[in-house]
Amino acid sequence: MGFSEIEQQLLICVLIAKNYPQINFKIVQSHQYQFFPVIAPGIQKGLEILAGKKLLTIVKISKENQEEHYVLTKEGLGIARQLMVPYLDSWYSKILIDCAESAAHRKFCMNVFGIAVNQFSFFTLQEFEHLLAFLNAQKATRILDVGCGTGGFCAELAAYPEFKKIHGIDFAKEAIDYGNKKHAHLNQLNQLNQPARFVLEASRMEVFQSPDRWDAIIFIDTIYFTPDPLMVLEKYVQMLDEQGSLFLFFGQPLSYVQKFEEVLSRLNASVQIQDFTAEFSERWDRMAAALMALKDEFYAEGHEYLYRAYLEESERNVANRRGQQVRRFYQIKKIGCS
Ligand SMILES: C[S@@+](CC[C@H](N)C(=O)[O-])C[C@H]1O[C@@H](n2cnc3c(N)ncnc32)[C@H](O)[C@@H]1O
Repeated sequence: MGFSEIEQQLLICVLIAKNYPQINFKIVQSHQYQFFPVIAPGIQKGLEILAGKKLLTIVKISKENQEEHYVLTKEGLGIARQLMVPYLDSWYSKILIDCAESAAHRKFCMNVFGIAVNQFSFFTLQEFEHLLAFLNAQKATRILDVGCGTGGFCAELAAYPEFKKIHGIDFAKEAIDYGNKKHAHLNQLNQLNQPARFVLEASRMEVFQSPDRWDAIIFIDTIYFTPDPLMVLEKYVQMLDEQGSLFLFFGQPLSYVQKFEEVLSRLNASVQIQDFTAEFSERWDRMAAALMALKDEFYAEGHEYLYRAYLEESERNVANRRGQQVRRFYQIKKIGCS
């Protein structure tokens, strides 16, 4: 079955919005603005075509105001998943590289997060310092960053000589190629021709294999993207050195966080949780204000879609459309290790 551009965009948007209690027109549109640099026109018509193809059900919620909600059928869900994997790979490559290139984005991150490491996440200076304290306490020297983007956080770690091996992986291949070029000064072979201290590698977290053991494996706003977090976390726990830890930053609505903590309870590992919600929930207003102040700069750079991507997400969260937002930090250790 062939799909027009708008049909593909809608299937992907409804799939991405799957954790919303109900997906209405506004939410679909907001996700289209967040995830597509070029917006295909005709949402309403596209939804009707998908319903006609039995890929989507249109549920009329209220007769009075004609409000509709959209649910993917089983077949629609299967097709949306097939479309989403290659789409997200190319979208991430583009947006991660643009985040690294954009001066407006750097100012935005400094203003809102207090740190600019080419991130495309909610990672703050406070979180960076918190994590660093854990790495130092654990005397970590070998670090793996899962979902490293263009490697800005890994490059920041490279400024600390105690970290002897820094390895980032991400499925967005062009972002990894860009990051390896940008940080070429860090990934030279050393004088003894031993492997470089700093390596970025294109790999999906689900299939990545490592013969090495790691003191710390870090997931910053990345674990959400796997359909099977339990399998992924079990696998990465096995890659830890006896005294090593997984460290995860996770920011999502409370219901999603509870679901994730349910997954963690099934993990054969010890889990420590710290809460970063207070500063997280205040941030959406600041984000929207900082974006608006930088709007002209984003547009002048040709990065209006990047501006739009952040704005749509912050506006949905200011309006609390998915419920209360929670930010947590998890430390996960093998059972039996202190
Ligand atoms: C929200 S971004 C966070 C990036 C980075 N950790 C940061 O703080 O800026 C999520 C990252 O996960 C990567 N990603 C998504 N699914 C992935 C997968 N299955 N395997 C590896 N990386 C993935 C994306 O390419 C993206 O770089």
